[in-house]
Amino acid sequence: MKILVTGGLGFIGSHTVVELQNKGFEVIVVDNLSNSSLNVLDGIERITGKKPIFENIDLREKSAVQNFFKKYFDIAGVIHFAASKAVGESVENPLLYYENNINSLVYLLQEIKELKNANFIFSSSCTVYGQAEKMPITENAPVQQAMSPYGNTKQIGEEIITDVAKVTNLNSILLRYFNPIGAHPSAEIGELPLGVPQNLVPFITQTAIGLRDKLSVFGNDYPTADGTAIRDYIHVVDLAKAHVIALQRLLNHKNLEKVETFNLGTGTGSSVLEVITAFEKVSEQQLKYQIVERREGDVIEAFANTDKANTVLGWKAQSSLEEALASAWKWELKIRS
Ligand code: UD1
Repeated sequence: MKILVTGGLGFIGSHTVVELQNKGFEVIVVDNLSNSSLNVLDGIERITGKKPIFENIDLREKSAVQNFFKKYFDIAGVIHFAASKAVGESVENPLLYYENNINSLVYLLQEIKELKNANFIFSSSCTVYGQAEKMPITENAPVQQAMSPYGNTKQIGEEIITDVAKVTNLNSILLRYFNPIGAHPSAEIGELPLGVPQNLVPFITQTAIGLRDKLSVFGNDYPTADGTAIRDYIHVVDLAKAHVIALQRLLNHKNLEKVETFNLGTGTGSSVLEVITAFEKVSEQQLKYQIVERREGDVIEAFANTDKANTVLGWKAQSSLEEALASAWKWELKIRS
């Protein structure tokens, strides 16, 4: 069965390609290499023994998307990762984000709705909840005004899919990720941030290896036990497996609604200081850090209620924070060696 994975050479995409191939799916990766590298194909091959089919396509080119579906008319499902994801950059250059994240989604859906099997998995984010009133966050928590153009593209994306599914063949699952971290345990694939990392874990591993002087902890005056902000950090391999399960749910017509939404997190919140302590334990070294001002746009806490994902989707995160951090560290050591 042929599955299209857009952004399949990126961080979450590449791990999902591995899990799909492990389950026997034939994967076609579309990626424009804007934030990824062809070497990822070799990493996937070393893990699974198979290189996926690869097409270097920019999904902002409508005719390229149309031609792709003429060539691969028998696709059974699409997992759509290809998107820009840097919050700060989206504030600086909103049109880039609207063009990349929205146009490509529209062009894809225009073709997918015509397929016999219009099955579509969408990468969404817990950012749609903003600062939720109640923890842990259920899927019924209200979607709040986005804090950035990036966040807005995820909300608009969910709305576009919902509108299209009402009037077409389209069936879709929206997966709202909490904070994906880590790397494949083989250290053959992992996260490759361009430039200075904006996210916590790559900044920690780059500091530990000496690429950065010290980590800045953004705020220790939050109303939390140790004053630092709380997030739900989920191992990228667990996250990848959820995509395969969601895809199988659509392929087997097990979905209860045309568009279903699931939170993907561990259900446990960890503070920035807890992440640092856990990292120090697994890497057996002390991390240099300083406390600085809060970062604008950060919420105090966000962690998932995973009941719906556990019971309805039938998926549960397996890895601990320590395991996820150990895999991120192993990956950092490998790519710098
Ligand atoms: C952010 C985005 C989210 C996006 C995700 C992945 C926001 C509000 N959310 O999540 O939409 O899907 O990235 O790209 O921007 N921290 C530090 N020092 C650092 C970096 C981070 O203390 O150098 C802290 C942050 O303040 C936060 C936590 O670590 O409390 C996690 O930050 P980060 O990894 O950037 O993820 P989010 O901001 O939660």
